[in-house]
Amino acid sequence: MQPGDRDALWRVLEARRDHRHFGTDPVDDAALGRVLDAFRVAPSVGLSQPWHVTVVRNATLRQAVHDNFAAVRVREQDRFGGERRALYASLKLEGIREAPVGLVVSFVPPVEVTLGTTSGPSALEYSVVSAVTLAWLAATAEGLGLGWVSLIEPGGLHAALGLAPHLRPLAYLCLGHPALELHEPLLQTVGWAARRPLALDWRD
Ligand SMILES: Cc1cc2nc3c(=O)[nH]c(=O)nc-3n(C[C@H](O)[C@H](O)[C@H](O)COP(=O)(O)O)c2cc1C
Repeated sequence: MQPGDRDALWRVLEARRDHRHFGTDPVDDAALGRVLDAFRVAPSVGLSQPWHVTVVRNATLRQAVHDNFAAVRVREQDRFGGERRALYASLKLEGIREAPVGLVVSFVPPVEVTLGTTSGPSALEYSVVSAVTLAWLAATAEGLGLGWVSLIEPGGLHAALGLAPHLRPLAYLCLGHPALELHEPLLQTVGWAARRPLALDWRD
């Protein structure tokens, strides 16, 4: 490690936000390449690297992803009642059409036995999520904004994008230039939820 690395890393960790508001400027190919390169250095159980990324720049396809999102959002809104429901209705929960790049990160179930998965096969999916986190940080370091959209029905996403049969989409990520400067989670700013201290105990 070099002097200053820790401070630089912490600047990125603190600056990372989930973004849903994007400008229209395209994402530079070299910057996109570096974000994707985060998958190369990401940890994975048994070095399985069980992921595949589909880059979605086509606006018609992003509209189809948004249609999928909109249907899920209607269903989700029904799960909340009273004031909570009104607040939910006011939330912006994605930037699928505005963000010039969408990244579908799919889980690729390994064909062979994977070291480290005997007691917990979910470690394979966790590996995909941990790789997404590195890409999120890499995007932040590029000055880009990334937003994870989980309100998407994976079967519909698979069909709309014509993904290969062996892919299981786990994450849809919006990537672009952030239109808002966010110094705390947006859900905290709008009063939906607040950050909590770490739940922690020790066994010394
Ligand atoms: C697995 C996962 C799924 C998420 N899905 C959504 C989503 O569908 N829509 C959304 O607006 N934010 C989504 N988020 C972002 C969270 O709301 C956000 O991370 C949290 O509020 C903390 O804010 P911060 O990331 O800016 O620190 C998701 C985050 C994760 C990790």
